[in-house]
Amino acid sequence: MALGSDVVAQLRDTIARFVDERLIPAEKRVEEEDRVPPEIVAEMKRLGLFGLTVPQDYGGLGLSMEEEVLVAFEFSRAAPAFRSIFGTTIGIGSQGIVIDGTPEQKEKYLPRIASGELICSFALTEPEAGSDAASLKTRARRDGDHYVIDGTKRFITNAPVAGLFTVMARTDPENKGAGGVSAFIVERDTPGITIGKIDKKMGQKGSMTADVIFENCRVPAANIIGGREGMGFKTAMKVLDRGRIGIAASCVALAERLIAEAVTYARERKQFGKKIGEFQLVQAMLADSRAECYAGRAMVLDAARRRDAGEDIRVLASCCKLFCSEMVGRVADRTVQVFGGAGYMAEYPAERLYRDARLFRIYEGTSQIQQLVIGRAMVEGD
Ligand code: CAA
Repeated sequence: MALGSDVVAQLRDTIARFVDERLIPAEKRVEEEDRVPPEIVAEMKRLGLFGLTVPQDYGGLGLSMEEEVLVAFEFSRAAPAFRSIFGTTIGIGSQGIVIDGTPEQKEKYLPRIASGELICSFALTEPEAGSDAASLKTRARRDGDHYVIDGTKRFITNAPVAGLFTVMARTDPENKGAGGVSAFIVERDTPGITIGKIDKKMGQKGSMTADVIFENCRVPAANIIGGREGMGFKTAMKVLDRGRIGIAASCVALAERLIAEAVTYARERKQFGKKIGEFQLVQAMLADSRAECYAGRAMVLDAARRRDAGEDIRVLASCCKLFCSEMVGRVADRTVQVFGGAGYMAEYPAERLYRDARLFRIYEGTSQIQQLVIGRAMVEGD
C-alpha cells in the first residue's frame, strides 16, 4: 500500500460521510439540472479527490490501485455523475501522462491536475472509430516544432469543462493501424478547438459529454506523450486497462447502493399482510444480488493487488469490467423488480440508478470488446 492502511481508512471514512451527507442528497438536483453543482466540485477539490492518483512528488496522494478501488467502493455509491468529473480527470484523462509522460510533462501538468485546476478528458473515440479504436482518423501533421491536429472526437466525457485533453491522433498516415497513432497533451485554450453541444443521454445526467473538434490546432511537439511518435495507441490501452479496473470498482459500489435500497424497501413495504422481504422469492432476488456483488468486489481487489505487484493485468482488467458491469445491470434490474411499480417511478432512486448503470456496459470498452480481449488472449496463449 502506498499510503498505509490507517490513512486510507480515514480517507474512506471521510469520503463515506461526504457521499451520505452531500452527494446522495444532491442526486435529484444533478439529474434535473444535468450538471454537478460547482460548490460540490469545489468541495471535491478541498477533499483532495483530484489528487488521489497523482504521484506524491507532483502534489497528489499517489494511491496504489488497491487503495484507489477501496476509495471507489465508497465514492461510487453515489450517482456515477459525481465520479465522472474527478474520476475521468485522475483516471483516463491524465493517466497517459502518469504512465508514459516525460519528466517535463509530469512536472508541467500533474501538480495542476492534483490541485483540481485542470479538469481532464480522454479523447480517443471518433464518429467512425469506437470499438475499433486503432482505426481513428484524427490527423496530427508535424510542422516544425509543432503538430497540427485536425479531426473530430465524439462522446468525450468532461469536454465542456475540461482544461486539458489527452488526444490520440494519427501521426503516420501510411500506417492505418495502431502503430500510426500518437498521444498528445492538448490544452483547452489552444486555438482551433471547438466543443460541440452537450449530449443528451439516457442516464448519468450531470456527467457532461460532447464532441471535440480540432481544426488546424497547433500543439507543441513537446506535448507528444513520452516524446515519441507511434506509441499513442499503447498508451491509450494501458490507460484503459487501469480505467477498466476503476470502472469495475464503481460498478461494485453502485451495486452495493442498489442492494441497500432494495433491502430498505423490502423491510418496509407490506403486501399480503407481511413485509415483502419475508417472502422467499424476494429474498432470492436480494441473495443473488448480494452473492454476485461480493464476487465482483473480490475480483476487483485481486486484480488491483496484482497490478500493484507489477503483474500484467490486461486480461484481468477486462474480466473485471465485463463481470462487474454486467453484474450491476442485473442488480439494478432486480432492485427495480423488488420495488415493483414504485421501481418504475422517477420518485424513487431505483429508476434513475437503473438508467445510470446501463452505461457501464458500454464505455471504456463494451462487454463484447472485453470478451474479445479475454478470449483472444486465451486462444493466443497469453
Ligand atoms: N497494453 C499495452 N499494449 C497493448 C494493449 C494493452 N492493454 N492492448 C494492445 N496493445 C498493443 C498490442 O500489443 C499491439 O502492439 P504491437 O503492434 O506492437 O504488437 C498494439 O497495441 C495493437 O493491439 P491490437 O492488435 O490488439 O489492436 P486491435 O486493433 O486489435 O484492438 C482492441 C484492440 C482491444 C479492440 C482495442 O481497440 C480496444 O480496446 N477497443 C475498445 C476501445 C475503447 O475501450 N474505447 C473506449 C473509449 S474511452 C471512453 O469510454 C471514454 C469516456 O470518456 C468514458
